[in-house]
Amino acid sequence: MSETPQRPWALLAELSHGCPLHCPYCSNPLELVRRSAELSTDEWCELMRRAGEFGVVHTHLSGGEPLLRVDLEQIVAAADAAGIYTQLVTSGVGLTEDRLGSLVDAGLRSVQLSVQHADPARSDRIAGHRAFAAKERAAALIRAAGLPLGVNVVLHRDNLDAVDALVDLAVAWDAERIELANTQFYGWALRNREALLPSREQLARAGAAIERRRAELAGTIELVWVMPDYFDGVAKPCMGGWGAVSLTVAPDGTVLPCPAASVLPDLDPPNVRDRTLEWIWESSPAFTKYRGTAWMPEPCRSCPSREIDFGGCRCQAYALTGDAARTDPACALSPDHALVRAAADAPRDTTAPATEPLPLAAPGQRARASAASV
Ligand code: SF4
Ligand code: FES
Repeated sequence: MSETPQRPWALLAELSHGCPLHCPYCSNPLELVRRSAELSTDEWCELMRRAGEFGVVHTHLSGGEPLLRVDLEQIVAAADAAGIYTQLVTSGVGLTEDRLGSLVDAGLRSVQLSVQHADPARSDRIAGHRAFAAKERAAALIRAAGLPLGVNVVLHRDNLDAVDALVDLAVAWDAERIELANTQFYGWALRNREALLPSREQLARAGAAIERRRAELAGTIELVWVMPDYFDGVAKPCMGGWGAVSLTVAPDGTVLPCPAASVLPDLDPPNVRDRTLEWIWESSPAFTKYRGTAWMPEPCRSCPSREIDFGGCRCQAYALTGDAARTDPACALSPDHALVRAAADAPRDTTAPATEPLPLAAPGQRARASAASV
């Protein structure tokens, strides 16, 4: 990969960390941005204009829950006017027919809807909120509005045995795509790791079910399955490589190569309030520090996969080893791989029925409290 970056084509806009759900697998940082610190309407709209000029062609409008922003329509319209394709990533809570209509009028092009389980009661239990009925209504509204619908599911011990039912649900909701992504352990998910990690047997069952459903449903719905890197010994090319294709803008305007990087030391994270996107992308330490391959230690430095996976995830390396410049421990070649093997292979009982709420840390309470301050 060239050390001179091409301009980014994607922008992950984390409009708010506020959220009505309390999902224990949330990858948002433990220190959530307060609602009062969020960028203003004008700042988000100006950012979209600048991003369009800079070459961005696609934005995920995400969070937290982006519908909490009462000015979402204005932000969508600004992105659309800047020539940026807009995709809303939502829990569906708060998506009424009127709200969706005004978002479509503003230029919204597609929606990704999160679901926690195919069984309503279990979905609500994982979300920590009675949200399933709202999701079902949202899916119907989205399709009635003629927008493409994607269903997103984060998988873990408590829903991995339901992949068949989740695929059925996405088909029933007339989704174009279902993404079944095993939990990546950052932020709140890392804190809850012991309660979320599945067994290898669960993963094998789910993988076989996915293969079967892919064959059955070929040509009707796109079925995306993301293996957990703790189990397959393969480092993921996180965000397509550090500072390679995408910018993430946090609710307060901090710009980073990925949503989890706010915890890394020595990045001196830039902010759209102070700097141009050009400087942030091309010159800021946050974007240049781990870009390309020159920063890599062994075994990445001489590895034939170094321009395929870019050494894996810097945030995971930091979270597990305290050094963001080490090879991602998920890689079987990493000298730290035993850290993830020990966690993945620790004995655990995944057969007990999950009838009681798990005693998990979740971001919802703080986010909800701060949402009330708007
Ligand atoms: Fe990727 Fe580094 Fe592992 Fe090679 S050693 S496969 S570059 S993470
Ligand atoms: Fe930050 Fe992977 S989540 S580099």
